[in-house]
Amino acid sequence: MYTLNLDIAQFLSEYWQKKPLLIKNAFPQFEDPISADELAGLACEEEISSRIVVTKDDNWEVVQGPFEDYDNYGETHWQLLVQAVNHWYPDSQPFVDAFRFLPDWRFDDLMASFATPSGGVGPHVDNYDVFIIQGEGERRWTVGDNTPQQRRGGNPNSPLVEDFTSIIDVVLEKGDMLYIPPGFPHCGETLTIAMSYSIGFRAPSQQELVSEVADYLLDKNLGQQRFTSISEPDAPGVISQEHQLGLMDLLTQLSQDPNNYQIVLGKLLSQNRFELDICEGEEAYTEADLQDAFDQGAGINRIGGLKVLRLENDTNSRLFINGEVYELPNTPEEVLAILSDNVSLSSDIASTLCQNDEVQSLLLTLINQGLCYLADTEA
Ligand code: SIN
Ligand code: CO
Repeated sequence: MYTLNLDIAQFLSEYWQKKPLLIKNAFPQFEDPISADELAGLACEEEISSRIVVTKDDNWEVVQGPFEDYDNYGETHWQLLVQAVNHWYPDSQPFVDAFRFLPDWRFDDLMASFATPSGGVGPHVDNYDVFIIQGEGERRWTVGDNTPQQRRGGNPNSPLVEDFTSIIDVVLEKGDMLYIPPGFPHCGETLTIAMSYSIGFRAPSQQELVSEVADYLLDKNLGQQRFTSISEPDAPGVISQEHQLGLMDLLTQLSQDPNNYQIVLGKLLSQNRFELDICEGEEAYTEADLQDAFDQGAGINRIGGLKVLRLENDTNSRLFINGEVYELPNTPEEVLAILSDNVSLSSDIASTLCQNDEVQSLLLTLINQGLCYLADTEA
């Protein structure tokens, strides 16, 4: 069990997206959700995103995975980082669940790392929120203030920043957690062989949103309205302030119509940045197979990382799953809520939900697409 020892309401009002926070003993009796050997095993897989960062004198070298062996790297000065461990290692789900006090759409992935003494990725700034949780071993973390940072060596393309003055300087021990909002420079340095975990949360940028909405409007041939004026400027060569605002107001009007943004947001925010471990079976299940499975006590699990989202005040009754829209016109809101809020459905609940043909067909589709699977969910 991963029970977060944190006053969530206070955290959300005082720290989330505002300032870093150190929480000693955030997970009492913390157990590593994955072992170093299992992590090394994941990093052998082609489809899993992994890298090794080697610390050199004031320099860092990145080697992209997959990795066959680690013999060349020695006993110190390197760190293995594996992204989206929650997609490939279902046993890590209970750990990830401890962070579902934040909405699923913001959740990026669970990154796990194995670090040797003096290993670390170097001082850097992330544009996402991260919770860093210490497993086995000890790492010293420094965090600076969110003032603009110089890129390392004056190189604008460097992922690293120059050394910074710290506002937090702490040794994390098993079960300790550090929360770092976007923009705060930080640096981890490994003191003893260590496992650590980063739970990342992202939000789209204006660029991404504008581009997604524009693609949708072009695709659906929407947004054809043009500017009309109520008065003209005195000089022919000027674009008046009133005309500038009137033109930009066309964009505001577009962006305020739920018919233009809801489907875009649902699709965009239900996608994953990292590959999913799709578990398509050899043969398609039928409705009868599904009922048999429920009768034998099987429930339904989502594959790790799958996002199933609903929009508050949606114009339509639907779910957004892995970047696709699933229309469910005959499904009540409470059922959409059960489907989107639970990563796993017990056989009783799944079987009751399947009395609605539309839901049964959705669940069957998800199972046959390999996005959900039948499993013993009672454990
Ligand atoms: C690390 O574990 O060293 C990297 C995590 C992070 O900085 O977000
Ligand atoms: Co970071």
